[in-house]
Amino acid sequence: MERELALEIVRVTEAAALAAARWVGSGKKNEADNAATTAMRAMFDSVNMKGTVVIGEGEMDEAPMLYIGERLGAGWGPKLDVAVDPLEGTNIVAKGLWNGLTVVAVAPKGTLLHAPDMYMEKLAVGPRAKGLVHLDATVKENLEAVAKASNKKVSDVVATLLDRERHGALIEEIRSAGARIKLISDGDVAAAINTCFEETGVDIMFGSGGAPEGVLAAAAIKCLGGEFQGRLKPENEAEVERCISMGLEDPHKILLLDDLVKGDDAIFAATGVTDGELLKGVRFLGNSISTTHSVVMRAKTGTVRFVDARHNLEQKPHLVMV
Ligand code: FBP
Repeated sequence: MERELALEIVRVTEAAALAAARWVGSGKKNEADNAATTAMRAMFDSVNMKGTVVIGEGEMDEAPMLYIGERLGAGWGPKLDVAVDPLEGTNIVAKGLWNGLTVVAVAPKGTLLHAPDMYMEKLAVGPRAKGLVHLDATVKENLEAVAKASNKKVSDVVATLLDRERHGALIEEIRSAGARIKLISDGDVAAAINTCFEETGVDIMFGSGGAPEGVLAAAAIKCLGGEFQGRLKPENEAEVERCISMGLEDPHKILLLDDLVKGDDAIFAATGVTDGELLKGVRFLGNSISTTHSVVMRAKTGTVRFVDARHNLEQKPHLVMV
C-alpha cells in the first residue's frame, strides 16, 4: 500500500468524528452513529483504492451503508480489505463520556479476519510485554508477566476492562492478584490501544467485547508492536455454524495477531470524538472552525503519527452534517 493512503484514511475518520461530535451528550446514540456512518461513507468516495468492507455496520440486509461486502473507494488503486467502526462507543458519545472514536483499518485484500458479530475474549498488552502473556495463562500469571516486563510491582499494574456483569469473576481475580483496575463503560478499541502508550497509565486489557472491534484493535496493535490475542465466544450452535461458514474451522482457537491481521501492511487510523487518554475530542471553536485529533499508523514501518487538524467548516460545507 502507498504510504499516502495513511493521510487519506485520516481524512475519513476526521469527517466521521466531526459529524458525530454534533451529537455529544445528546442521548441519541443512533443519530450519532448514523451521522458518523454517513460522513465516513461519503469521504471514502475520494480515497484512491478498490476497497471491500470486511468489518462494517452489519450484513447487507442489516445496514444501509458500510455493510459487509460493500465496495468503497474511488474505483482505482490497490485492492484492500476495509474494517470500519464509524462510531466506536455510541453510548459514550450519546452521554459525552470518554474515548468515543471513529476508526478505520485497511490492509491488502484477504489479510483482515472476517470476524463474525459475536463476543471475543481479548488480551492486549504493549510492546514491553509482547510474547510474555497468553490467553491460556491465569490472570495472575499475565499480571506478573506485565509487571516484570515493566520493572514494576503487580500492585503498580493497571488492568482495564469493560464494566460488565459477565466480568465479575475476572475482576475478582485481578483484584486478588493485587493489580489496580480501570473499568470502562464502553470502547474496548481505545482500551486496547492505550496499553501500547505508557502515558495512558494502562498496562493490560482483559475481558470480552465485540469480535469486529477485536480485529480493529489488532490492526492498531500490530502497528504499535504490542500483543493482542482473541478467542471467539460463540454462544449457541448457530453462532458456531456462523464461525465455520466464515472460514473459522475451529471457532474456539486462540487467534494471534497474524490470524487477525495477516502480513505487515496494515494502516490504522482513529479520530477522537470525545476526549480520551490518548486523543482529544472534537472542538467547535466558533467562526466555523473546529479541531480534530487523530492517530494514524502503519504496520510496515511502525510509524505512528498524531494529526492535529483545524477545519474551516465554511470552506468544507460537506463536512457539516447536522
Ligand atoms: P458500540 O459502539 O457499538 O456501542 O460498541 C461499544 C462497545 O463497548 C465496544 O467497544 C465493545 O467491544 C462492545 O461494545 C461490548 O459489547 P457489550 O456492550 O455488549 O458488552
